[in-house]
Amino acid sequence: MGERTDSWLTRMSLKAAELKEAGHATILAIESSCDETAAALVRDGRQVLSSVIASQIPLHAMYGGVVPEIASRKHVESVDPVVREALAKAEMSLEQVDAVAVTYGPGLVGALLVGVSYAKALAYAADKPLIPVNHIEGHVSANYIATPDLEPPFICLIASGGHSHIVRVEDYGRYTLLGQTMDDAAGEAFDKAARVLNLPYPGGPLLDKLSKEGNPLALQLPHVKISGRYDYSFSGLKTALINRVHALRQRGENIPAADIAASFQHAVVELLSDKAILAALDTGAETVALAGGVASNSGLRAAMAEKCARYGLRLLMPPPILCTDNAAMIGSAAFYRLMQGEVAGLDLNACPSLRLV
Ligand code: KG4
Ligand code: ZN
Repeated sequence: MGERTDSWLTRMSLKAAELKEAGHATILAIESSCDETAAALVRDGRQVLSSVIASQIPLHAMYGGVVPEIASRKHVESVDPVVREALAKAEMSLEQVDAVAVTYGPGLVGALLVGVSYAKALAYAADKPLIPVNHIEGHVSANYIATPDLEPPFICLIASGGHSHIVRVEDYGRYTLLGQTMDDAAGEAFDKAARVLNLPYPGGPLLDKLSKEGNPLALQLPHVKISGRYDYSFSGLKTALINRVHALRQRGENIPAADIAASFQHAVVELLSDKAILAALDTGAETVALAGGVASNSGLRAAMAEKCARYGLRLLMPPPILCTDNAAMIGSAAFYRLMQGEVAGLDLNACPSLRLV
């Protein structure tokens, strides 16, 4: 980076320090890590002034999953109109924004690069600090929006299409990893199971719906044994389900799809909820929060509500619109990063395998 961009970063760091000092900031956040192009305006990490999500799901459904090249191209088309719409809905101009935030990982590299490049250009042109945000931290931060009085520490069960972790949120931006999946992410497991049942992508929400008509105890699924106290695995469940469906198909028998869906969901939900509760009880936590797309699952929400009530734990479940990929959660995470003085230079790059911890 040349002298001009170095001095730009110095100036932006000073601006960020002023915002930190004031303790207030309205942030324009951009998210493009997977198949949603999203932009939002968020005040002080908690108040959503506007949130726009352009989903690409119909575009990818015919391929049975996200096609990275198509995703990148669609982000290029959508990012500018989505940002403009977010500003218009909040009745704000770019000048009135204090900082620009962007998801820089984890996710699809081409998809991330669209948001990162756009955000860098915007921040430079508008002379605003640029805040880099971890997408998983964004999911956790959806809880700060949904529950304005929430303060760390708390336990968070993060379950999305690409990630499945149980973390203790020690402080803003500080996490201890307690447990994680040994193989598929929770959403990935739901999507794969749904695919075997011929449900279109992304199958998770459809499998959830179908489960409501089935018997969760109809199908015997194997008990998963994992050595890590808070770790879990879905591949055994998934294989058992696939084998069962294939055997029925080979024999030309009727597939009891609703019973299979309900049994699979029940097994996944028991595993996730038991591990999250165990982590909360072991660490003496008072609050358990859900995050990520799978936090919309009706079975998981019901099981967590029942178990948290049983053990006297406060349960936080953001509304589904904050669980799925969105930019409001990125704006919230960005605020707390800004309050720690974090800003990025124009050499910010996409980090497809960025970790939370
Ligand atoms: O967090 P998210 O929107 O994107 C990622 O960061 O991955 O999560 C999407 C995942 C998909 O796998 C989708 O099938 C799953 O969340 N999902 C669900 C439900 N709603 C979304 N899985 C089960 N039940 C649901 N109701
Ligand atoms: Zn996500």
